[in-house]
Amino acid sequence: MFNNVYAGKHVLVTGHTGFKGSWLSVWLLSLGAKVTGISDKVPTQPSMFEALGLSEKLTHIVADIRDGERMKTLMADLKPDMVFHMAAQPIVSLSYSDPLDTLTTNIIGTANLLEALRLSNHTCTAVFITSDKCYENVEWTWGYRENDRLGGKDPYSASKAGAELMIYTYFHSFLKNPGSNVRIVSTRAGNVIGGGDWADSRIVPDCVRAWAQNQSVEIRRPKATRPWQHVMEPVSGYLAVGAALHLNPELTGESFNFGPAADQSFTVHQLLEEIALNWHFDGSHDKFIVDLTPTFHEAGLLKLNCDKALHELSWKPALRFEDAARLTATWYDKYYHQGTEGLYEYTLDQIQEYTDAAIKLGIAWTAQ
Ligand SMILES: NC(=O)c1ccc[n+]([C@@H]2O[C@H](COP(=O)([O-])OP(=O)(O)OC[C@H]3O[C@@H](n4cnc5c(N)ncnc54)[C@H](O)[C@@H]3O)[C@@H](O)[C@H]2O)c1
Repeated sequence: MFNNVYAGKHVLVTGHTGFKGSWLSVWLLSLGAKVTGISDKVPTQPSMFEALGLSEKLTHIVADIRDGERMKTLMADLKPDMVFHMAAQPIVSLSYSDPLDTLTTNIIGTANLLEALRLSNHTCTAVFITSDKCYENVEWTWGYRENDRLGGKDPYSASKAGAELMIYTYFHSFLKNPGSNVRIVSTRAGNVIGGGDWADSRIVPDCVRAWAQNQSVEIRRPKATRPWQHVMEPVSGYLAVGAALHLNPELTGESFNFGPAADQSFTVHQLLEEIALNWHFDGSHDKFIVDLTPTFHEAGLLKLNCDKALHELSWKPALRFEDAARLTATWYDKYYHQGTEGLYEYTLDQIQEYTDAAIKLGIAWTAQ
């Protein structure tokens, strides 16, 4: 897998206590990497990080990425072979209630990591994770490409466009220079689903929290379509581009989209119906109640064009929508109905199932 690049490597993951960070850490550990994580806290209760006992399996460092001096010291001490930066304030609604927290975490935090890498200047391959929301959403129907304009009407989107600009300027001012030992790419993905997410104001966690207490879930915008994808899809993309960048310096400074196939847009309602198929309901309550109260501005359809990832990395998604929903529902169902016993192994089984699906499709990262 991934040209065996990760075996024995020291990999730093920021945001390792979060949803995507936990999945990435488990996958890296299974590939034989030595993982160190930096996060300021465990962001939710419960959390995948604690449910899987990850603090026992990797080196867990509590630090705030807004603390630039701490980032410099940590980077100089740790000197990781590879960095995946995904620590962020990721919730759009929170970016309205505390915009400065989102802007400083996502923009200054990213700049602090870049500065720490610049000064440490050890040989390092860095994959920085932003979001599909970094693009200026002009509500068109075709997919955004990596060279489309950045922008953001809401603070979260602006913070992700800002993070992209930090990466861009550090690359062009410092990291592309001949004396630099740091290679970097930025990656953009959209809404993900998967077991182990307990963030507020996200539809799947809201749903399983309610169902676990035999309550109906309130849904806003049931007809809104989103390019849902399982968390393992973009995580496979981050790992694929990290391995490719490690082997091929010419990729440095590039950006990559990782999204679902163009025909994979489903409504919130379709997603929840699909998840419900794989959940053991104990009560006779309604599954959903539709709440039509208007809330904050949320941009409409935003699709990613992933031709570049296909062309340069031979990366593409591996799961059908139904399988992404099933894997998500069964993970939570196991957690809520059977507890954490064996959950780490179950997560590894899901990674294996995903890998098998990718092998069947002949996706390049599965070779070797
Ligand atoms: N989940 C999605 O649907 C989605 C979609 C697009 C992009 N993303 C991006 O992927 C990344 C991971 O998202 P997630 O869903 O796992 O979020 P999450 O909230 O589950 O995890 C965020 C992580 O960042 C850490 N963090 C937050 N502020 C920090 C700070 N100041 N210092 C140190 N650590 C800090 C948290 O402790 C946690 O480990 C984020 O950059 C997010 O914007 C997520």
